[in-house]
Amino acid sequence: MKVSVKVPATSANLGPGFDCMGLAIPLYNTVTIEETVLPGTGIEINVLAADSSENELLMEHIPMDENSIVYKAVELLYNSIGQTPSELKITIQSEIPIARGLGSSASVIVGGLIAANELLGRPADETALLSIATEVEGHPDNVTPAIVGGLVITSQEDDGSIVYRKLDWPEEWHLTVCVPDYELATDISRSVLPKEVPMIDAVFNAKRMGMFVHAVHTKDVELMKLALKDRLHQPYRTKLVPGLEKIIANLKHEENIIGTVLSGAGPSILIVSSGNGLDKIKSIVRETWADLNVKAQIFDTVIEKQGATIISNDDSK
Ligand code: HSE
Repeated sequence: MKVSVKVPATSANLGPGFDCMGLAIPLYNTVTIEETVLPGTGIEINVLAADSSENELLMEHIPMDENSIVYKAVELLYNSIGQTPSELKITIQSEIPIARGLGSSASVIVGGLIAANELLGRPADETALLSIATEVEGHPDNVTPAIVGGLVITSQEDDGSIVYRKLDWPEEWHLTVCVPDYELATDISRSVLPKEVPMIDAVFNAKRMGMFVHAVHTKDVELMKLALKDRLHQPYRTKLVPGLEKIIANLKHEENIIGTVLSGAGPSILIVSSGNGLDKIKSIVRETWADLNVKAQIFDTVIEKQGATIISNDDSK
């Protein structure tokens, strides 16, 4: 039996929503899990570029933790029903840039989990999948939109369960994703965060979370401009993201800019805007990074409403 699952990329935090807000974007990794028939072959994990053939393995570009996290997710699911995985071939077709703050690790965790769940006859429901995925990833803001799609507010409660709600994003607000050519591992980006923050900064973000929710419900551009700010993670990470501060400063006075935020743990940047001017926004980002010798992929996107999808389930074996 062989199952393939297509999982969207995600952008987490969205300014004030550190570890509790994220959205899915239409860029995908596909995880295929195949039960192999040869006993003793163990677990094999391969990573391919999305458009490559098997002989163009990307293994050397994929950090080992990307590989072990997919296995860890699969193992936790098997363990939850008293089993241990064995003789599995896991193939990841990777379109989502790695270590760029676009949820590539969440996508392989989710893809592995959902594929394994199919192989096992669906013992886990959405609630269980969300909990296991969050346990492996450490926070729910990428795995939740990767599983359910859309823009979500998500929380891991004390008992480990995940509570989430979807928000409707105003269609007239544009999203632009800017991906620099350098990587930033999430664990490094989290290592610079303090264990505690001043009360005034916690209050700053609490206010902005409220503003964010109201602004998307009412399509209030002026409120959203206030909402897309953060004091819990971005200020600490700025030094790890060459160009971030300058890009925010250079875009600040551009007409139609609603906000510029770090995507997840970075180093990608997410820009929210309205109206015209997307080309100008993109060229400002490109030129600012070019001054620092950073090349970038910059593209407009939309929110992917569909979460992880099973694209093939071949039980011919
Ligand atoms: N909320 C997470 C962070 C997202 O900012 O570290 C990255 O996985």
